[in-house]
Amino acid sequence: MLRSGYARRMAKPKRRYVCQACGAIASRWQGQCADCGEWNTLTEEAPQTVFSSKHDLSSGGRPIIFTPLDAPGELPVRRASGLAEFDRALGGGLVPGSAILMGGDPGIGKSTLLLQVAAHIAMAGARPPGSGSAVYVSGEEAAGQVRLRAERLGVSKAPIQMASSTSVRDILTTLGAMEPPALLVIDSIQTMHSDQIEGAPGTVSQVRGCAFELIRYAKENGVTLILVGHVTKDGSIAGPRVLEHMVDVVMAFEGERSHQYRILRSLKNRFGPVDEIGVFAMEGAGLAEVGNPSMLFLSGREEPMAGSAVFPAMEGTRPVLIEIQALIVRLQSGATPRRAVVGWDNGRMAMLLAVLEARCGLNFSSAEVYLNVAGGYRLSDPAADLAVAAALVSALGDKPLSSSAVWFGEVSLAGEIRPVAHSSIRQRESAKLGFAKAFGPAQGREGAGKGGEPGEKGLSFTGLSMLPNLVDRILSDA
Ligand code: TYD
Ligand code: MG
Repeated sequence: MLRSGYARRMAKPKRRYVCQACGAIASRWQGQCADCGEWNTLTEEAPQTVFSSKHDLSSGGRPIIFTPLDAPGELPVRRASGLAEFDRALGGGLVPGSAILMGGDPGIGKSTLLLQVAAHIAMAGARPPGSGSAVYVSGEEAAGQVRLRAERLGVSKAPIQMASSTSVRDILTTLGAMEPPALLVIDSIQTMHSDQIEGAPGTVSQVRGCAFELIRYAKENGVTLILVGHVTKDGSIAGPRVLEHMVDVVMAFEGERSHQYRILRSLKNRFGPVDEIGVFAMEGAGLAEVGNPSMLFLSGREEPMAGSAVFPAMEGTRPVLIEIQALIVRLQSGATPRRAVVGWDNGRMAMLLAVLEARCGLNFSSAEVYLNVAGGYRLSDPAADLAVAAALVSALGDKPLSSSAVWFGEVSLAGEIRPVAHSSIRQRESAKLGFAKAFGPAQGREGAGKGGEPGEKGLSFTGLSMLPNLVDRILSDA
């Protein structure tokens, strides 16, 4: 009797189709995911048992313990990774018992960076024995390949415990029988599988289930876990978004493979700010730290060129000077002109072009417009508007901008040039790097030296309030 009553309360297991891109669940197969719009991403996954009647959850559980926020006892201490740029991006080092997800394009250097970090931790641990050890599990490469890379990085003497495995059960069984390491690197989470979960490695259920088990191990044992995550075409980490919710920190390792520089950015951080970046250069022997990145993204400019403007960007608390290049090609025929942007937001450029047309009477409609941010850098600072506008106007009018000038400010749809944060840090860094003139938002008053904050030593500041002022200044050979 009991059996049939139980069976009646259970809903019939339904087929379910899970989108491998976003994790959305559909009850029937479709060619396109209704949630994220990706094509051919739905796969059938094992049904979950669903109870149709409500469970009584108000009894039978164990009591939980409440703790005051200032309870005595030790707070977890962050562990330095040995790479200051890595620690900076993390907000000050590795937190024990936390999980970090690191995404990035293939070949960008994730494995290289993490092998270097693991080596540092293992070396540090070797001095006072046991204080820090590192386990590096590769699901993508054979142990020999990892050793070859270690050789190249000059860290083959570091006492990293390295293995090649894709079975989470094997990994956790092995780890359970040893002293928990300070750092556990899993390269990559998409290659891991668990025999207790249905589906091929890389499917949403597998990725989620494996990550869950690994994270639980890390939290219970005070281990810092770093999961490498593959990214899809559009740049998000493959697999369900839930992976991002499960971890404490999400980092992106960015850059152009053809360029030397790499930027480590945190997109989510439960233990620190998300606006600091780490800057690295990919060299013959691995990733080198770039402690002072402010010069990196300037091309070696000798003669002023039309279409090039320098923008003093802020990355967290650090200023970085970046060259923005625009190229405008007039079309003779009535073909649809191309617009291409590398390193900046497409929509933002379209908006800026529209504002330049509507508020300044410029005409880009029959011209192809190309915009490039030097050095493979990706701009996210809203203060870039003015520098981009300056580059576009300069390219359109074929008027080179002064090679000793920098430009910053946000542009509104009405064509106003809006104040931005950190005006004085931007100017100070520009002055330090030998720039003589800065053009930025006028706060209230137009003209030299009145940018809200006075110009830095050796730098003359010109405040601009409206976009037409900028256009006049550039096109009239100021
Ligand atoms: P890798 O760490 O394997 O990238 P990912 O794990 O993100 O896929 O790095 C691959 C690239 O880095 C490879 O194209 C070669 C380059 N590289 C160097 O330039 N110098 C080095 O010392 C190493 C180890 C790699
Ligand atoms: Mg790799």
